[in-house]
Amino acid sequence: MKHKTVVVLLHHPVTNRKGELITTSITNMDLHDISRSCRTYEIDHYFLVSPIEEQHAQVKTIIAHWQRGVQSEWHPDRVEAFTRVQLVHSFENVKNELSRLYPGYKLEVAMPDARPLPDQKTYEGIRQNWAAEAEPGVKIIVFGTGWGVASSFFSEVDTFLGPIYGPLGEKGYNHLSVRSAVAIVLDRLFSLVRPT
Ligand SMILES: C[S@@+](CC[C@H](N)C(=O)[O-])C[C@H]1O[C@@H](n2cnc3c(N)ncnc32)[C@H](O)[C@@H]1O
Repeated sequence: MKHKTVVVLLHHPVTNRKGELITTSITNMDLHDISRSCRTYEIDHYFLVSPIEEQHAQVKTIIAHWQRGVQSEWHPDRVEAFTRVQLVHSFENVKNELSRLYPGYKLEVAMPDARPLPDQKTYEGIRQNWAAEAEPGVKIIVFGTGWGVASSFFSEVDTFLGPIYGPLGEKGYNHLSVRSAVAIVLDRLFSLVRPT
């Protein structure tokens, strides 16, 4: 993969069930499970975006716990998965950090969503587009928490990716946990075996 690949999990700006703008808490499950998916699919960075300083401190404590003593000896895979985790306060911080790390690389923000949104592209189409691009870029794949990414974020998005559906298509249930959604999206975009 010539491109740098990045997963972002937004805890803000997202909405609650009433559509109100909120900030969600970082969960232990999202930290562990998405780190491992990122490591498996060779994602270069996993950013957790939360403006709440106290949450950063808690996540740092969790990561430090697994990096110490017997935990690190018994669970080296977990420790390794955490090596690509970064905590930031805003999406602006994500863009600034990537521009610093990869000067001259074009940043592209892609956002899968469970909701049908205008001009959503197919995963296979994006996979082909990215493979055909001559210049290496930074592909930032953004996921939401709560009841999903707030529409105020949409102006940041270059490429909207369509909902993942089960066998019943748009008439069926498709409210995946963000952890499952990340794994499916990464597989569709970056698996070695091409999806059918
Ligand atoms: C709305 S949050 C729900 C968070 C929830 N608290 C949990 O259990 O993970 C789930 C996120 O996963 C992604 N997602 C979930 N279902 C999806 C689907 N069917 N298609 C595409 N993305 C999906 C979206 O990024 C969405 O913002």
